[in-house]
Amino acid sequence: MNNKVTIMDHPLIQHKLSILRDINTSTMEFRTLVNEISMLMIYDATRDLPLSDKKVQTPCGIANCKEIEGRKLAFVPILRAGLGMVEGALELVPSARVGHIGLYRDEKTLQPVEYYCKLPKDIEVRDVFVVDPMLATGGSAIDAITQIKKRNPRSIKFLCIIAAPEGLKALTAAHPDVEIFAAGLDEKLNENGYIVPGLGDAGDRIFGTK
Ligand code: PRP
Ligand code: URA
Repeated sequence: MNNKVTIMDHPLIQHKLSILRDINTSTMEFRTLVNEISMLMIYDATRDLPLSDKKVQTPCGIANCKEIEGRKLAFVPILRAGLGMVEGALELVPSARVGHIGLYRDEKTLQPVEYYCKLPKDIEVRDVFVVDPMLATGGSAIDAITQIKKRNPRSIKFLCIIAAPEGLKALTAAHPDVEIFAAGLDEKLNENGYIVPGLGDAGDRIFGTK
């Protein structure tokens, strides 16, 4: 199966992304924007949830309505920057479970190093949304999804705010069945594996650690 890749061109997302990228955006504003963009992305990424018919008694009659057909969702942030995307996602789907995968990129080799993995027990009945603001070389996303697949979730989608062409290529090759959503597709990686123009180090900007 070949990946479906969606670059989200909604004006609200694009506007917020411009502010997010700005070197002068404060930590507080950055965090708020990551939340807001994540919420908008989840809104679109859940567009294909199946609906069933439902009749609702209104004060004036019976309305033929729809409801989401008992699907269970899970959000899995890749620590630590992915954490910044969880609140926005949960605002839209408060009943979702949250798993965590701890990975960091070795600064020299750029290879992901795993240090934590805790996923919902019933993940095999859940549609999983893996969230991480940055898809750079793709190593972290590939590794996280490989770990999650070992637990046989119902489906997996990957959501990032900015993707590099290199990461997108690597992720689609490694996991062709995973649908990918990004708010922006940038030009390239620099010699340190950072996305250009990107937004810098997402974790540092969310948590104010630089
Ligand atoms: C960042 C980002 C991704 C990863 C992307 O995390 O949040 O997880 O880099 O790079 P890749 O596609 O080349 O793997 P980082 O390793 O900086 O850790 P942090 O979130 O803890 O800051
Ligand atoms: N991780 C980040 O936080 N930013 C990048 O540009 C690449 C990896």
